[in-house]
Amino acid sequence: MNVTSQALLTTTPIGVIGAGAMGAGIAQVAAAAGHLVLILDAREGAAAQAIEIIQAQFSKLAAKEKMTTEAANAAAKRLIPASSVADLARVGLVIEAIVENLDVKRKLFNSLEEVCDASCIFATNTSSISVTSIAAGLKNPARLVGMHFFNPAPLMALVEIISGLATSKDLAAILHATAKDWGKTPVYAKSTPGFIVNRVARPFYAESLRLLSEGASDSATLDAIMRETGGFKMGPFELMDMIGHDVNFAVTQSVWRAFYNDKRFLPSLIQQELVEAGHLGKKTKRGFYNYADNSTPPTPHTEDKAKCPSDITLFGNSRVVTALGKRLEVAGVPFTHSEASDDRIAHANGVVIYETDGRTATHRAHATGIQELVLCDIALDYEKATRIAITVAHQADSQTKEVAIGLFQAAGYSVSVLNDVAGMVVMRTVSMLANEAADVVNQGVCDADAADTAMRLGVNYPLGPLAWADQIGVQKVNQVLKNLNDFYGEDRYRVSPLIQQSVYAGTPIHG
Ligand code: NAI
Repeated sequence: MNVTSQALLTTTPIGVIGAGAMGAGIAQVAAAAGHLVLILDAREGAAAQAIEIIQAQFSKLAAKEKMTTEAANAAAKRLIPASSVADLARVGLVIEAIVENLDVKRKLFNSLEEVCDASCIFATNTSSISVTSIAAGLKNPARLVGMHFFNPAPLMALVEIISGLATSKDLAAILHATAKDWGKTPVYAKSTPGFIVNRVARPFYAESLRLLSEGASDSATLDAIMRETGGFKMGPFELMDMIGHDVNFAVTQSVWRAFYNDKRFLPSLIQQELVEAGHLGKKTKRGFYNYADNSTPPTPHTEDKAKCPSDITLFGNSRVVTALGKRLEVAGVPFTHSEASDDRIAHANGVVIYETDGRTATHRAHATGIQELVLCDIALDYEKATRIAITVAHQADSQTKEVAIGLFQAAGYSVSVLNDVAGMVVMRTVSMLANEAADVVNQGVCDADAADTAMRLGVNYPLGPLAWADQIGVQKVNQVLKNLNDFYGEDRYRVSPLIQQSVYAGTPIHG
């Protein structure tokens, strides 16, 4: 979208409707930015209560010197409770953050249309309802824009600016510029199920749940691999426990239904069971993990010390080989280096080690005729990673696993051995995240920059999925997805047209 528009002036009063978690956070952001903010809530006393909480936040920020005392006091005074929709007659922007229900939201905007000036912009903070449908109830649907903040709104930088079919481009651009002035990082998106973040993030949870259901390892080990190898701040299981399984499962179901049961988004029976059992995560003190007061935190499976192999050759100059070489050198472990770059990472005492390409180790041993074959998962940064996951071909002898463990331990990694699953953990998850991000771009929901920015800022991924695919190599990601597709025979792993086209064109996907 190339519209350049000016942000709303801070002299424009703003209405925030819904004084819950999101409304209060948004009101705090707008007041801190200099706007007069009128807060309305259907529940008696809720607006005044939210104002007290926000004012306490401003005082805390001043105490921590993140705001001057004068600025905090001034912002606190800019918050005013409203008692009815009529009180919002003179605002220039209304941001709705009420209950997630289409009829209730439509009714609210209809009543606003009766009292607000024609120039007042209507924004909805809906996380899952189509902006097009909410707007369809209005006399002038062009005036409604999605302005999707993330929780907690004062801390999360991302705002998705969502256009429904009728949304005015100019108004979307005004809100984009306004969000920027409020210190946020806005991205444009078209109104489609899950918008950007809630759609592209689905495989983060879905692949880990599949890996768990296939017995790849337990949740603590899979979480540790995603953190310590993949560089994610939190593993998927601990994150689902934090979000709440009821909430996370509902989002998955809503995206799955909205896409007419596309297998890409298939909900997990494991998560359904947790919801049915009332094991909703931290809030019920039980989810994948136990949060009772005397419970011990889960520990990942980490292999015991194995002997360092005596005869190590590293091959080529890939990211993994370069890092492995450096780490072995630092540890004083002798090895030879061969420039031959045929996909092998290493030979160690007769064991051949490859990076995963989406096939199981057993499949690859069968295809290559190399029985003593081990695969390792990809790391975001092999030099900084502290853990490596490996899988061993079923055809291998009993020494193979020990040799591979010894090699990676000698390079300073903790080693987790997975049951032999296709695509392993980080490679499989990141490839599927990139696949979804590629589809979102291919379907015109947003551009590649927006997709990556949204995932970095909306869910704290260490790299945008498309930039990550470029780092891995689009060709490799394509191969991984094709191999997963072949192995499972499921539409879930079909390769995005955008990834295929990047491979044919020989161009990076993010550019
Ligand atoms: P919440 O339940 O904390 O707050 C909703 C507030 O709206 C309540 O105070 C309620 O009394 C009030 N309300 C309900 N109907 C109303 C009406 N007709 N008129 C005026 N006030 C009314 O909900 P939360 O979490 O703040 O969510 C609000 C909206 O933001 C929803 O659309 C939700 O999908 C969306 N959202 C939520 C996020 C989250 O993480 N909680 C993240 C991003 C968006």
